[in-house]
Amino acid sequence: MAAERLEQVFQMDTSGIKVGRGATREVGADMARLGARRVMVLTDPGLAGGATVATVTAALRAAGLDAALYDRVRVEPTDASFAEAIAFAAAGRFDGFVAVGGGSTMDTAKAANLYATWPAALLTYVNPPIGAGAPVPGPLKPLIAIPTTAGTGSETTGVAIFDLEAMHAKTGIAHRALRPALGIIDADNTRTMPPMVAACSGLDVLSHALESYTALPYHRRPAATEPGLRPAYQGANPISDIWSAQAIAMLSGHLQRAVDDPTDDEAREQMLLASAFAGIGFGNAGVHLPHGMSYPVSGMVRSFVAAGYPADRPLIPHGMSVILNAPSVFRWAAAADPARHLEAARMLGADPRGAAAEDAGTILADTLIGIMRRVGMPSGLAAVGFSEADVPALVEGTLPQHRVTKLAPRPAAADDLAALFRGAMRYW
Ligand SMILES: NC(=O)c1ccc[n+]([C@@H]2O[C@H](COP(=O)([O-])OP(=O)(O)OC[C@H]3O[C@@H](n4cnc5c(N)ncnc54)[C@H](O)[C@@H]3O)[C@@H](O)[C@H]2O)c1
Repeated sequence: MAAERLEQVFQMDTSGIKVGRGATREVGADMARLGARRVMVLTDPGLAGGATVATVTAALRAAGLDAALYDRVRVEPTDASFAEAIAFAAAGRFDGFVAVGGGSTMDTAKAANLYATWPAALLTYVNPPIGAGAPVPGPLKPLIAIPTTAGTGSETTGVAIFDLEAMHAKTGIAHRALRPALGIIDADNTRTMPPMVAACSGLDVLSHALESYTALPYHRRPAATEPGLRPAYQGANPISDIWSAQAIAMLSGHLQRAVDDPTDDEAREQMLLASAFAGIGFGNAGVHLPHGMSYPVSGMVRSFVAAGYPADRPLIPHGMSVILNAPSVFRWAAAADPARHLEAARMLGADPRGAAAEDAGTILADTLIGIMRRVGMPSGLAAVGFSEADVPALVEGTLPQHRVTKLAPRPAAADDLAALFRGAMRYW
């Protein structure tokens, strides 16, 4: 049998980024420069009456643009909520989009833009094997993404995630064309985040950075059969490493401060920047098992509700569903590259000098558990409603997430995943 040809090429892409407090007021001029006249502004109901949305609509109108507000984004979007936003976008014939919110809003805006521009059945562009994974046929309308959490990094990525309700798991669309034309990184917009939203979205940044830094290297993936089919999530590479490592280092001093004190402008600025840095890292390298395993965790929620999040339905916030898996995964995955996992622990404040390679996983896992405890996370999957009896269904929901599971530093079969879920049930 001929040996599989391995990848030799990687590509880096990101959105344009504008950084600074008050930069949101420039969105009208930015959108006019991008050529739009009729703009759909998306947000979620909790943010609709807030200062950032008011600033954005005023700035667009001051630049002579029409701004139509869509404030029905669902927090943790679903196929149905995407469809509703797509219908609004298609009816409005917009030539520009602005997203004001967290990942839920930015991802909904990407989907609205995609399907209004290139109409198709929802699963057409969704990642295989869940969807058909068709490449986006051409350019989309300009999207400006204004994050209000720190955060998903979605302002820099070509990824849109949603819960496919029939499957009880999240999936997504990933294509470079979905990337916003511009991300506006303005820490004035994160000041009102409730502490639990700051903690969950901040731990999402941490896991993005750690997963992309430790993902399978790009040159150990099978080669793309043609350039257009090379995935955005292409494995760790020398450029993504720089962004991911820097994000890890920035988090260590600032996550706790930003959660404890929303008036700490410096901490919030650093967290928002770290979120974008991690976005550039993982948007080109990918994430792996903590994210892949989080998709059934959030999809199979029964009764958990988190402070600071909508209370009208059970919901495990995305960042929480990710970080609850992370110590268990890294404890196991570190054997693939102990030096890199020790380096990550060092950047997070551990002192791994003299540590043996076989201790790398425990050292990184313990460092993460310490951070989770300090920012008020539950003690593991059991604390958000799961038990041993759920492990087979959790594994089944993870196995089809090829886009991310195939980037695990070590190959993870069903038995491995079952052991990882068991290891994530209770940390303290
Ligand atoms: N596209 C990507 O690359 C990517 C990456 C990571 C996560 N995601 C997705 O993003 C979603 C999670 O996004 P998120 O963590 O940013 O949160 P979110 O958008 O789901 O918002 C969470 C809650 O915080 C509130 N909120 C947000 N900003 C606020 C502010 N400044 N003040 C007051 N309240 C505020 C919202 O109203 C909402 O109730 C998930 O669906 C996840 O799968 C996408």
